[in-house]
Amino acid sequence: MSRNAHPAGPRHGDVLPNAQQSALPDDVNAIDPAIWPTTVARVDGTLVLGGVLVPELARTHGTPALFLDEADVRGRARSYTEALAGFDVFYAGKAFLCTTLARIVADEGLGLDVCTGGELAVALAAQFPPERIEVHGNNKSVDELTRAVEAGVGQIIVDSFDEIGRLAAVAATFQRQQRVLVRVTVGVEAHTHEFIATAHEDQKFGFSLRDGSALRAVEAVLDAPSLQFAGLHSHIGSQIFETTGFEVAAHRVVALAGAIRDKHGVVVDEINLGGGLGIAYVTGDDPESPKQTLERLNGIVELECASVGMRVPKLSVEPGRAIIGPSMITVYEVGTVKDVTLDGGTTRRYVSVDGGMSDNIRTALYDAQYTCTLANRASVETPVLTRIVGKHCESGDVVVRDTWLPGDVRPGDLLAVAATGAYCRSMASNYNHVPRPPVVSVVDGVATVIVRRETEDDLLALDTGVSAVPA
Ligand code: LLP
Repeated sequence: MSRNAHPAGPRHGDVLPNAQQSALPDDVNAIDPAIWPTTVARVDGTLVLGGVLVPELARTHGTPALFLDEADVRGRARSYTEALAGFDVFYAGKAFLCTTLARIVADEGLGLDVCTGGELAVALAAQFPPERIEVHGNNKSVDELTRAVEAGVGQIIVDSFDEIGRLAAVAATFQRQQRVLVRVTVGVEAHTHEFIATAHEDQKFGFSLRDGSALRAVEAVLDAPSLQFAGLHSHIGSQIFETTGFEVAAHRVVALAGAIRDKHGVVVDEINLGGGLGIAYVTGDDPESPKQTLERLNGIVELECASVGMRVPKLSVEPGRAIIGPSMITVYEVGTVKDVTLDGGTTRRYVSVDGGMSDNIRTALYDAQYTCTLANRASVETPVLTRIVGKHCESGDVVVRDTWLPGDVRPGDLLAVAATGAYCRSMASNYNHVPRPPVVSVVDGVATVIVRRETEDDLLALDTGVSAVPA
């Protein structure tokens, strides 16, 4: 999903058939500050994060492990809240959530987007202010809606007629008027630089603008005394670098807001433009700053509102990846190094690490690209084009498809993969009964486990061992 940012072919080393997308960098030991967390640097060749040597972190916490640069994530969160007055920023917890992160998000003044009962439970366990929580999801159960209303969440983004009926009933039993946004399918899907207008009606989220469902949903909310219609929501995709998709979305959402005003005399209080703001995974990925993005989105909505003679509503966004993605790295230990001879006589180097698709499914699932470096030392050995693979029983178990690593990488070395904060730990699995890795926050030389490593006992604890057939 990341933009392919490798226009040049490889310049030397072990040139492989599919190497075109991976240009040999000038220095394989270099740390690109656009990709790595702010406090990552090399000290005498060894990688440091948050003032602690990565090998020391690995010794204390084991591998694989995710390390969070807490100063970095706080800085990113703050850069959104400070970007533009008047914007509400909800951190999308699906990217990664635990109680410590929820507290960081609360401290930095953001709201929180949750989309399941589980995410809500984490938020409430962290004592996240409920009025700053918004609840998403295309199939919220009565139980989830009940817990959300009971907790006093700020707003619920409704996604179906069934849900509007369900939520109206739940809110009525609590004698509440629940603030509600209506999720609108604007007919735009945007991923990175690829943008397809009108092509994305055929999906499960939201109410279609084109067939009039969106307006009917707003009317259903207006008709429900226990619901307070607060605004419109649109989310067009993820890992987006260009704002064209947002422009079309804003145009269509504002047009709907104008129609609601004209037909019902109701003012749309809030427009939420969703998440999706892209980050740099590989050199050349070039996302805008939060300030640039929010100013641009604001400009687009201002223009659209002016054209229908409407006051600009409160604007909100829901970045997940852009806040947590660049702030974490995953550290693995190398277990095996294998050169495989390909047709034509070239070789491909496979470096196997002690994790894989159970802690990062994104490469296998989306063909995502990552940047990787040798963490326990720098090396001046001639770089070799290398594929980093995991330890799972599946040939698609790839962590980094093509990367240049020094030719002397050997078992026992540590590899660090950048920008693994979003959708890696949160999408982790126990495939092959591999326990999920810990998350360790590092700040000013102090490392603190915020999610502990899963153990085989944790996995066995779920296994009742009971047979349906009595012995
Ligand atoms: N708001 C809504 C309604 C969403 O559905 C999402 C993401 C976000 C906000 C946050 O989007 P972000 O800013 O993080 O791009 N697993 C995929 C990404 C799925 C995104 C789902 N929705 C990945 O690993 O790339």
